[in-house]
Amino acid sequence: MGIPEETLHNLFDVELEKGRTQKEAVKAVRQKLHNIIAPYLGDPDYEQAARDLEEAIREGPEQVKRVCEAILSQHASTHERLPILEEFYHRIFDFTGKPDIILDLACGLNPFSFPWMGLPADVKYHAYDIHQPRIKLVNCFFELMGLDPCAEVRDILLFPPEIEAPVAFFFKEAHRFEHRQHGCNVEFWKALRVRYLLVSLPTTSLDGRRNLLDRQRRLVYGTIGDAPWEVTELIFDKELVFCIDKSYGT
Ligand SMILES: C[S@@+](CC[C@H](N)C(=O)[O-])C[C@H]1O[C@@H](n2cnc3c(N)ncnc32)[C@H](O)[C@@H]1O
Repeated sequence: MGIPEETLHNLFDVELEKGRTQKEAVKAVRQKLHNIIAPYLGDPDYEQAARDLEEAIREGPEQVKRVCEAILSQHASTHERLPILEEFYHRIFDFTGKPDIILDLACGLNPFSFPWMGLPADVKYHAYDIHQPRIKLVNCFFELMGLDPCAEVRDILLFPPEIEAPVAFFFKEAHRFEHRQHGCNVEFWKALRVRYLLVSLPTTSLDGRRNLLDRQRRLVYGTIGDAPWEVTELIFDKELVFCIDKSYGT
């Protein structure tokens, strides 16, 4: 499946610590993995996508954008963001300034939004995910675009990146981290050595029926607790970005 061994061990140990038998623990880990990888959110055909990207690079920037759009549309998180992509990064970097280093935490397919970010090819784009085929495709894309292939298979909850950066994206994953391990965002957010931690969360449920704004605000402000961090909210259609300035008060 291409999942780090440390993740499997960690999930298993957590279940055994709850007093489950080996058999019960295996079943529970399978369920957790299903939620973590979330195949129901969608996946591109990775081999085909790599071939499409190689061809698009030869054809020029507009074709690269078309292929990236097709890849982004294969996963629910990035599919939802497609109509607002240009505005999304414009407003974010208006607020943070254009970074020379980015951490994209639990990146999924988001690095394929790079052509809409307006950033130069010498930006260090460190993307992390536990799903190996995603990371392989992201690095293939980065190399074709002339970026350093800085994407990495890593369980960021167990091993938070140590790199210092002006900006980190943690998009549409904080609520899912809580399902893996209640309260785990607190130490994770503290560990990150970044100026702006941008946590985004969906404002409606996947079927669009429930408004989740209050719930997401409770999660973010509850996680921040007493930390002296300033928060600015940027609201978009279906997504709320909490721009957390971690340098505030230090
Ligand atoms: C809901 S998607 C969000 C994707 C992306 N951040 C976005 O908003 O477009 C969650 C992604 O996080 C990855 N993921 C889940 N847990 C992770 C962990 N502990 N470390 C690294 N990646 C993780 C999954 O493999 C999946 O690609």
